[in-house]
Amino acid sequence: MGVRILAIESSCDDTAASVIVDGNIRSNVIASQQMHKIYGGVVPELASRAHNEHILPVVKEALKEAGVEKQELDAIACTRGPGLMGSLMVGFTFAKSLAFALGKPLIDVHHMQAHILAHFIEDPRPSFPFLCLTVSGGHTQLVVVKDYLDMEIIGETIDDAAGEAFDKAGKMMGLPYPAGPVIDRLAAEGIPKFDFPEPQVGELEFSFSGLKTSFLYFLKAQIKKDPDFIEKNLNDLCASLQHRIVTILLNKLEKASENTGIKSIGIAGGVSANRGLRSALTQKAEALGWETYVPKILFCTDNAAMIAMTAHYKYLQKDFCDFSERPEPRLKWEAQTVK
Ligand code: KG4
Ligand code: ZN
Repeated sequence: MGVRILAIESSCDDTAASVIVDGNIRSNVIASQQMHKIYGGVVPELASRAHNEHILPVVKEALKEAGVEKQELDAIACTRGPGLMGSLMVGFTFAKSLAFALGKPLIDVHHMQAHILAHFIEDPRPSFPFLCLTVSGGHTQLVVVKDYLDMEIIGETIDDAAGEAFDKAGKMMGLPYPAGPVIDRLAAEGIPKFDFPEPQVGELEFSFSGLKTSFLYFLKAQIKKDPDFIEKNLNDLCASLQHRIVTILLNKLEKASENTGIKSIGIAGGVSANRGLRSALTQKAEALGWETYVPKILFCTDNAAMIAMTAHYKYLQKDFCDFSERPEPRLKWEAQTVK
């Protein structure tokens, strides 16, 4: 038989469900929302409405693919935060209601912790402790992962997240949302010939808002001289921006590795899908003798398999969520994870 958990993710603009049986992912279904593209960012009201439409078919599909009946589930898990309140509410209320109806426990999952535990979905799985650079649309963190549910954030951004820097700079160049994957694609055809300054912040701190501003001023100055500057230089602009972001991320990761003495390194979150980051990490790993862990792209961007993986370890500890709890858009994870 084994432990069977249904997990739901709805923190931003992807409605996802996954079934895990004894720590093995049996299904991983996702419905992504396309309409935000034309608005240049996620529109919260539209996102919640779309989650509402997608959630039942996505859950049904995940159960069907896994060959598991809802009555056979041992627990229902869901992302509790961080994320957009309206989006979180749809998934959390659905999960809570299903758990209540089935008389099964509810497991609340921290979205960023789940991004890190995506490393345990497939081999090669890192051993503890390892250092994880967690980079998404809302977060940029350096985390010492001591155990599945025991993690310590040792550095983070003081302003924008790395994904935000990609998306906002992309918007300035007229690219659709989310611009990260588009910049990744265009950067492969360009040369990083434009230089942007590296921010001066604390040792393990990140800052991307200065980069955003200098990118904007640079574009404005160039457009004054040549109105078609962006079109003519799009690939090189993308390559330059990506190169700067990747260098900032890897320099901090190197510092964190030096400070902690940890040479087992992972990357997680949407931005870890970036090919420039992945190849620069491989080069750095060779130079510094790191052992690196990079999940499949499918498990880097938002998905429910990572929520299911986290729920599996919380289930083993009988770490369940009270039915009186609610989603937390700014959920801190220290309280849940650092022991
Ligand atoms: O983890 P994620 O899917 O959602 C959040 O938890 O935020 O991350 C989304 C972010 C967006 O900013 C998106 O532009 C970025 O990840 N992203 C990328 C790539 N794929 C997704 N950034 C750069 N290169 C990519 N290939
Ligand atoms: Zn995410």
